[in-house]
Formats: sequence, C-alpha cells, structure tokens
Amino acid sequence: MRVVTLEVVAIPRAKASLTLPSMALANEYLKLLRETARFDSGWNEGPAAELVEKDMVGHIASLVEGFDTTSSVRSAHFWLVASGGDLLGRVTIRYELGDRLLNLIGHIGYAIRPTQRRSGYGVLALRLALTEAHAVGLTSVVLVCAEDNEGSRRIIEHCGGLLQERFSDADTPDRIRRRYVITLSK
Ligand SMILES: CC(C)(COP(=O)(O)OP(=O)(O)OC[C@H]1O[C@@H](n2cnc3c(N)ncnc32)[C@H](O)[C@@H]1OP(=O)(O)O)[C@@H](O)C(=O)NCCC(=O)NCCS
Repeated sequence: MRVVTLEVVAIPRAKASLTLPSMALANEYLKLLRETARFDSGWNEGPAAELVEKDMVGHIASLVEGFDTTSSVRSAHFWLVASGGDLLGRVTIRYELGDRLLNLIGHIGYAIRPTQRRSGYGVLALRLALTEAHAVGLTSVVLVCAEDNEGSRRIIEHCGGLLQERFSDADTPDRIRRRYVITLSK
C-alpha cells in the first residue's frame, strides 16, 4: 500500500497520511459518517452509517475496488489518518470522468470530519490527493467548489488552483460554483 505523509502546516508537529480504507478503522469510519451526517448534506455527508454497518466488509471492499457513487465512475478512495490513528477525513479521486461531469464536479472530492476542521487538514488532504493524482499520471486536475464554500475555495487556492470560471448548471441554476485547474509538476 502506498502511503504519503506530509507535515500539516497549521499544526507543525502533527502528521497524517492517506491510506486505503480498511476494516482496521471500520468503527472510526462509522463514527466519522455519523458525525458528518449531523453537520453536512449531499456528497459531503457520505453514505448512511446504518447501511454501511449492515455490510461493512462489502462496503470497504467496494471502496478499495474503486467506485464513486456520486459520479458512477472508477475512483480511488482514501482515508486521511492522523499519526495517532484518528480518522480525520475522506478523499476521492475520480479518474475517468467525461467532459461534462469533469467540468461539473472535478477530479477530487474531500471532506474533513467536522470536529477536526479548521486545523489545516483540508489543505493537507488536497496536497496528498494531488500527489496521488500525479502518481497515476494525471498532469492537471479540475477542482470544483460551491461559490459560498469558503473553506474549500481557500484550500484549492492554497494548493495552487487557478480559477477558470464561475458557472451554474442547467439542473441547479441558482447554485454558483467555481471551477479551478491545478497543474501538477512533471
Ligand atoms: C471544506 C472543508 C474540507 C475544510 O476543511 P478544513 O480542514 O477545515 O480546512 P483547513 O483547516 O485546511 O482550512 C483551509 C482554509 O480555509 C479556511 N476555512 C475552513 N473552513 C472555513 C469556513 N467554514 N469558513 C471560512 N473559512 C474556512 C481556514 O481558515 C483556512 O484558511 P487560511 O489558511 O487561508 O487561513 C471542510 O469544511 C469540509 O469537509 N466541508 C464539507 C465537505 C466539503 O465541502 N468538501 C469540499 C467539496 S468541494
């Protein structure tokens, strides 16, 4: 298993890594899902903890196999895990999006556990995801965030995102989003 570790900028001595989902953190994952469901909605909320709990082995296997339920395309799922073992967040890298979905949702999704937010882990999660994306051969990635998601906007800009466009989709005309591109070094 490939594990990438970077220093967290906001907490100089804290470290965290992206790891593949595994049964070893199944209970932590359930706690993360329940906690997130209380704060977020939509993709951010993740799958329902009750459903996951019914078939934890199958769910983890499908994450490892690599399928994104939001976009129905092949994806890589990672968990952001602190050096002490706490599960801090989730990252999804979507590899095979067609142009329409790519422009609508982007290559990378990330969510940090609500009780761990505002500590630099969002920036760390995206930095590590960019390393993973580069490792599988992507030379640039598209990132999309809601106009009013200031945390996500800052994360993308801290990681070198260049704003391409503000846009809305025909299905959700009132929802303004920002599309960024990050070029990955060769
Ligand atoms: C968005 C999200 C990932 C931010 O995670 P985080 O760990 O709090 O982010 P960081 O601590 O790395 O913060 C990065 C920057 O954003 C700022 N920030 C974070 N959350 C913020 C908020 N709610 N409002 C304003 N600024 C915020 C931080 O202060 C920091 O700013 P600075 O470094 O310029 O001073 C987290 O709130 C989350 O998981 N939200 C739900 C899922 C989501 O929206 N994912 C992104 C989909 S595009």
